[in-house]
Amino acid sequence: MAAAVALPLALGVARSWASEPAGDVAYGEYLSTECVTCHRPTGATSGGIPPIVGLSPSAFVDALLAYKDGQRDNQVMRNVTSVLGAEEIAALAAYFATLSPD
Ligand code: HEC
Repeated sequence: MAAAVALPLALGVARSWASEPAGDVAYGEYLSTECVTCHRPTGATSGGIPPIVGLSPSAFVDALLAYKDGQRDNQVMRNVTSVLGAEEIAALAAYFATLSPD
């Protein structure tokens, strides 16, 4: 009985790990051209737009998901994130984490 319960649980855990793709830095750099029209790649703040370089990938992903689902209420970032999937968000997080503020 215990084994019958444990097996589906173990499979569920393995699946949730597999569904979190590791970010592809090169793909993130490619996608970032859209972001850096607003966010300075040097980490400088410009016109109320916050710096996004040097954030931990997990904080970066959390922020983008919060805009995407409306938990963070910002129309600009909601539009930007509406077209991004998990793979794109992970790639962007990985790329921006490689930059350091000047
Ligand atoms: C049209 C301008 C614009 C574009 C393009 C844009 N952003 Fe933003 N972004 C903003 C603004 C403004 C905020 C602050 C919103 C707020 O007040 O919550 C923000 C906030 C953020 C934050 C949260 C930062 C923090 O410290 O909380 C992240 C992360 C972010 N943007 C990532 C991105 C990424 C990745 C892209 C490209 C896919 C992108 N942005 C494109 C204007 C933009």
